[in-house]
Formats: sequence, structure tokens, C-alpha cells
Amino acid sequence: MTFKSVKKMDINFSVIGYGCWGASGESNWHGHTDKDQIRAIQTAIDGGINFFDAAPVYGLGYAETILGKAIKGRRNNIYIGTKCGLPWDEKNNVRNDVRKDVILKEIDESLLRLDVDYVDIYQVHWPTANGVAIEETMSALAEIIKSGKARYVGLTNFSIADAKKSQEYIDIASMQGLYNMIERNAESYHNIPLQYKVEAEVLPFTRTEGMAFFPYSPLFQGLLSGKFTADQAFMKGDVRKSNPKLVGAGYAKHFELVKRLNSFADKLGKPLNEVALNWLVEQEEVTSIIAGVKNEEQVKSNLKALEWKLDADAIAQINNIVDTSEL
Ligand SMILES: NC(=O)c1ccc[n+]([C@@H]2O[C@H](COP(=O)([O-])OP(=O)(O)OC[C@H]3O[C@@H](n4cnc5c(N)ncnc54)[C@H](OP(=O)(O)O)[C@@H]3O)[C@@H](O)[C@H]2O)c1
Repeated sequence: MTFKSVKKMDINFSVIGYGCWGASGESNWHGHTDKDQIRAIQTAIDGGINFFDAAPVYGLGYAETILGKAIKGRRNNIYIGTKCGLPWDEKNNVRNDVRKDVILKEIDESLLRLDVDYVDIYQVHWPTANGVAIEETMSALAEIIKSGKARYVGLTNFSIADAKKSQEYIDIASMQGLYNMIERNAESYHNIPLQYKVEAEVLPFTRTEGMAFFPYSPLFQGLLSGKFTADQAFMKGDVRKSNPKLVGAGYAKHFELVKRLNSFADKLGKPLNEVALNWLVEQEEVTSIIAGVKNEEQVKSNLKALEWKLDADAIAQINNIVDTSEL
């Protein structure tokens, strides 16, 4: 395993981490059982992966519960990041809500589901969409840090302006955003406009501040595994059906690009998932790649990426393929 560390945290992160959204049961992704996910998490720990990114909203508590079961007896060997700010009501309608009382309740529920005393990083999932002052949200987080229920505070999907405002109230140790070989300064995620540009703004900011950066959807939700076909279809309930880049005309353009990237990977004699992960490993500011997986085979196949490296020339060629695409 390769490890990376940052000034703001006393943690050595495995450069390949684990994204737990896929452990949401039937509700968000298809085709894998709880057993598959538990085995995948344990295989990841055996393989040296030590950072696990979860969120209450992943399966409405489901993913945190699965992660809690999978890490039983191994808590001391791993670091957990979970999130707040997307609670749901009794009808399971999710809302953006970063009020203080909501967050203080959410952390206790997360700790119960994870069956742990504390999480390592507590991240605000999305910036407020309903006018709650950053000061109020950060005062909840300060209370959580003081109580020992979390060690560090992180932000996901935040603009640099809001991250700077947050830092006026509390130390921010990490940022998380959409970032992969193709989506380097993406304008939207599932039709939601993004308030940040990763390569242009977030990476320089985290580098200067000594914060960690965790890229999400590192394999473009599976597209960069290289296994998708021209007529790729997702089953009912699969969250990827609502990604306009993975359906219809949006998909056709992305698939053309992936065909070219696949040919390049063939020339290197490596599978595209390894190329895509290594491309991220080589970005200095990328601290831990929170890769989502369906099963233990995918964990093992992703870990193979660390057996070799992409050189600067190959990275330049990849960037050129992406920059000259029709996207
Ligand atoms: N902060 C946020 O707002 C936010 C948003 C999105 C995600 N995240 C975090 O980022 C994590 C990762 O992102 P993601 O799950 O959206 O996308 P991802 O990691 O890019 O893609 C995950 C999918 O890639 C495929 N895959 C992975 N390894 C593979 C391999 N070796 N061979 C073949 N296929 C492979 C699997 O697809 P199949 O299921 O088709 O096999 C898997 O479900 C999430 O779990 C979550 O923790 C955070």
C-alpha cells in the first residue's frame, strides 16, 4: 500500500480508500448483497485500505450499518469519514438541512449505526441550500469535536468561498469533490450544478492549506472501469440511471472518449480501472481515492493499480486524449 499524509491531520491515509455508497442495499445501486459488501470491506482492510467514506444518506442509514458490521473488532486499524446535512423524514424524503440541532442529532445516530465511539472525519455533505448560516453549522461541528465524537471536520461539494468562510469558525481538515480522469473541473453532478472546480480551484486550495482531498466517483461510477458497453443499461433503482452523462446522448459522447482511453490502456498493457486510479495517485493533492466497489474481486482488481506507476509522458497523453474529446 502507498500512504499519503497532510499537515492538518495526524493520519497516514492509504492512497486507495473505500467509498461506501454501494453498501446501500437495494436502494441506490444494484446487484450486490450485504454479504458481498461486508466481504469487500474486510478484503479492503486486509489489502491495506484504511480510509472508509460513508454517509447517513447512503441507503438511509443502511451503508453505515453495514460498515459498522464489517469493521467489528478492527476499528483501531481504520479511519472513518461520515457526513451530515442530508437527513430524511418519516416518508424517507431527503432534504438539505445543516441546522445545528439537526447535525447534533445526526452524529449520535451515525455513531449508533457504525457502532463506534467516534468518527475520524465528520464532513458536511452539501453546503446549505436553504439559508442556514455557515456560523450555525460550524458551531454544531465545534461542539462535536469538543465532545470527542469526531476528530476532524471536512467539507464535501463546497465552493472555495464557503470553505474559507467555514474556516473562520473551525479548522477544516479535508475537502471532497467530484474528480476523475475525465471529470477534472466538472460543472455538474447528476444535474446538480457544482460550485467548485476541482483542478482549477480545490486542489491548489487544499495544497496551500495542508488539507486532505478525497476525489469521489474516481471511476466515473464504473465508466472508467472500461467494462461498460455501447448499449450499457442500468437496472431499476440504480442511481446511475439519473446521471445524464451515463444515459442517452450524454453517454454516447462519453463512451466515444472511453473507447479512446481503453485503446491507450491496451497500449500500456493495463486495464482502464488501473490506469484511472494511477492517474489519480499521481496527482499530488489526492490523499485517498474513495473508490466504490461491488464486491471483493473489484477491491483486489483496484489494488493491482499500486503494483505499477504511470509516468509523466503517459499522463500527458491521457490528458491530451480527454482534452481533445467531443465533451
Ligand atoms: N460527497 C459526495 O457528494 C459524494 C458523491 C458521490 C460519491 N461519493 C463517495 O465516493 C464513493 C465512490 O464514488 P461512486 O461510488 O459514485 O463511483 P466510483 O467509485 O467511480 O464507481 C463505483 C463503481 O465502479 C465499478 N467498479 C469499481 N471497481 C471496479 C473494478 N475493479 N472493475 C470493474 N468495475 C469496477 C463498480 O460498478 P458496478 O457496480 O457496475 O460493478 C462500482 O459500483 C462513494 O461510494 C461515496 O463514498 C461522495
